[in-house]
Amino acid sequence: MSDIFAFRGSEDAGYAQPAPIADAEAAKERIPVSLRRAERAAWPTASEPELVRHYTWLSQRNFGIDTGFYPLGSCTMKHNPRVNERIVQLAGMNDVHPLAPAHHLQGLMAIFHEMQEMLGHCAGMDAVTLQPVAGAQGEFTAIRCIQEYHRSIGQSHRDKVIVPDSAHGTNPASAAMCGYSIIEIPSGEDGRLDLDALRAVVGDDTAAMMITNPSTLGVFEPDIAEAAQIVHDAGGQMYYDGANFNAIIGRTNPGLMGFDAVHYNLHKTFSQPHGGGGPGSGPIGVKTHLAEFLPSPIVGRRPSEEGEIGAGDGWWYTWEAPENSIGKVHQWHGNAGAVVRSWAFYRRYGRDLRTMSEHAVLNANYLRHRIMNPSPEIREKIHAMPADGCPADVVKHEFTLSMTPLVDAIGANGKDVAKRLLDYGYMAPTLYFPMIVPECLMIEPTETESKEALDKFADDFHAVLSEDAEILTTAPHTTDVKRVDEVWAARNLILRHPKKDDA
Ligand SMILES: Cc1ncc(COP(=O)(O)O)c(C=O)c1O
Repeated sequence: MSDIFAFRGSEDAGYAQPAPIADAEAAKERIPVSLRRAERAAWPTASEPELVRHYTWLSQRNFGIDTGFYPLGSCTMKHNPRVNERIVQLAGMNDVHPLAPAHHLQGLMAIFHEMQEMLGHCAGMDAVTLQPVAGAQGEFTAIRCIQEYHRSIGQSHRDKVIVPDSAHGTNPASAAMCGYSIIEIPSGEDGRLDLDALRAVVGDDTAAMMITNPSTLGVFEPDIAEAAQIVHDAGGQMYYDGANFNAIIGRTNPGLMGFDAVHYNLHKTFSQPHGGGGPGSGPIGVKTHLAEFLPSPIVGRRPSEEGEIGAGDGWWYTWEAPENSIGKVHQWHGNAGAVVRSWAFYRRYGRDLRTMSEHAVLNANYLRHRIMNPSPEIREKIHAMPADGCPADVVKHEFTLSMTPLVDAIGANGKDVAKRLLDYGYMAPTLYFPMIVPECLMIEPTETESKEALDKFADDFHAVLSEDAEILTTAPHTTDVKRVDEVWAARNLILRHPKKDDA
């Protein structure tokens, strides 16, 4: 070892593992003199242990799905299986360059192709692109495809996109980015789509309707096929926001409901880490009439010919460009690593993905039932949405609660409950969304939580509701960071680490 490595603890940085000097020197020689630094870069200095301690300290101040229960409604924070990480780190996935020739990428392209097929099949769509890297970007991409489709058939005057008032903010934002005006329609009292409200706004100017099903209330829309019919009869297109796909995958699909385009959140339904945990992936699927507008490239295949080794499955994979593509929405082929992780996840379920959604729905209903059946004094402080005891009192993968009764009872609100749950070791549920539920908490347990975890959360939730206003309104009490000014950071951007002399 000592022949190859020499100790290189730098004067001002403390201990660092020795670097292979021979290689480093050789590498330096390969950099043209004109590009070499005249002076040493002013990197922040720290020893390796200091650096490790810094990042470990940061990670301990964070809450993540690996730290505890993360019931963030609509965000589908499920366990990220470690086998996905092992697979994505294999050399054939990790050590390839996006510009490598197709004959070097056949294995990866086979995975991409299988994902396109699987996602298309699960959603009842005919063509899929893996390129968008977030659900919101998928929405934008699909709405752009719809826009080009309308142009291609002489319908470019269609300039309105309809969204229900329970929609996620990215829906109207994506449509607005494409230049559309937004028409919001109110939900009915049961939280469901109001067909009369829809009929009142569709017309010759309707480009599309964007909707998620089940809705952000966790409620399945039984009239969805009729809604699709109304929009189609008016010449509009139906867009499915796939953020809630975890509720229905394997049991029904957006294609059957009458949708023309969907996005998938691989970082929700297919276990790719998200939030602070990693880049997302928001592929879209479309029906045949929209396929020619998809971003390029898409993976195609043909039977392999003699001498072509390929992925060893009898196919030769090719990059294909849809004929009238809207162009690229991200560099290269999207977030390849996210696609591979999600592929690894789906492969372990195979055809049994349906059990995943069934367990997600079972868990949500079990937790809702547990939360809604405490002692009478606590029961008075919560209101389940849609209305308690309504005949269809079954939700899909998530549910919403209104904390209005708590406000009336003791003056503490939904935010106070969310903050206090941090003290009990939980991530707060989604707060104040959807906006149609006053004092809303939205809870989504996902299929990956055990009955014990759900029982404990329900008990702790009840414990929080039995506490007095003073404890709740000043929570959290045990976290590193206490109650913060939630808008300060957005209004006072600090985009770099302070320098030592920035006193
Ligand atoms: C219902 C719904 N639609 C769309 C999105 C946007 O997805 P992304 O965060 O991947 O952009 C979200 C995100 O949470 C969502 O909950």
